[in-house]
Amino acid sequence: MNVEKIREDFHILKKGIIYFDSACMSLRPKQVIDKINEYYTEYPACAGRSIHKLGNKVEDEVDDARNVIKKFIGAKKSKEIIFTKNATESINLLANSFKFDKVLLTDREHNSNLLPWQTKKYGIFKVNNGFNIEKFSEIVKDYDFVSFVFTSNLDGYTIPAKEIVKIAHEEGAKVHLDAAQTIPHQEVNVRKLDADFISFSGHKMLGPSGMGVLYGKEELLEKMDQFIIGGETVVNSTYDSFEIEKLPNKFEAGLQNYAGIIGLGEAAKYLSKIGLNEVHDHEIKLVKAIDTEGLKVVGIPGGGIFNFNIPGVNYHEVASILDASKNIMIRSGAHCVHSWYNANSIGGSCRASFYLYNTLDEIRVLNEELEKLKKLG
Ligand code: ALA
Repeated sequence: MNVEKIREDFHILKKGIIYFDSACMSLRPKQVIDKINEYYTEYPACAGRSIHKLGNKVEDEVDDARNVIKKFIGAKKSKEIIFTKNATESINLLANSFKFDKVLLTDREHNSNLLPWQTKKYGIFKVNNGFNIEKFSEIVKDYDFVSFVFTSNLDGYTIPAKEIVKIAHEEGAKVHLDAAQTIPHQEVNVRKLDADFISFSGHKMLGPSGMGVLYGKEELLEKMDQFIIGGETVVNSTYDSFEIEKLPNKFEAGLQNYAGIIGLGEAAKYLSKIGLNEVHDHEIKLVKAIDTEGLKVVGIPGGGIFNFNIPGVNYHEVASILDASKNIMIRSGAHCVHSWYNANSIGGSCRASFYLYNTLDEIRVLNEELEKLKKLG
């Protein structure tokens, strides 16, 4: 992987910033920005409605993007790809439309994979220092649905999803994986995993914000009720009834974010060209180069994210100083996983999250600045 060449595609990096906040929002390469501009300048029309030339062009581009995403995650059919606003909307759709009795979550869920289930019957499975598969095999017997964070946005820890899905299925439970932090950073094949549902966002994988995906097995999506309804979700309507559209339109109500859909397809093409295994290895190398001496590591080490505190220095202060001194951008706080921070009595922490455009030289600068900050504690 040629990081220097990759960096040329990211205009913002020429401004002297060290961007370590890709778990929140990744940067976008010019290829994705150009594709979004192409929609607005060359064919800024509706898909699926008007049969003029511009309408047909948008329809073709949207179909192409859906196919790209299908291949990117190894789905069987493009109709199993439902476009949403983000992973949060995907999970809300699932939680409100899929029929189940009781859902099992981990104790490290992002608010987006916790709050939508809190109005249902649910249980919490503790991951602690690593996923205990034996314990899970026992506990899952009491559940018919599992919704787990695949890769944690706290520390990049990835659960053994394939084994989890197999065991859950043996016990008759369906599985959803919140893959918002997995899909951008490692190869995911939904068919090999046999996951029933996965959700992810565009803005963490070099794609536009306001774009997400819910993948579901066709037979399960078919059984699901609609959540948001309106234009394009019906074949026909009368004053007191309507006939539901087929997949995927059934779930995509109203005019869609066409530029976003097309841009997301372009982002997936960009990542496929580079290769996600290489991206993953690169991120691990970056985390390993951090000098952890004198830092309090938070979470489970091992992923492409580094979560820490400097004893005696407030996490927000650390983030502000890094930004002010060397344009090093990290995130500080509870990272939308308040429940885990509360349960562990940790007020918050600093999180540096990496991607394909970060370099070992940037880690060297981080180490130098952290060294100075440690002296403030
Ligand atoms: N999920 C995003 C993050 O972890 C917002 O920063």
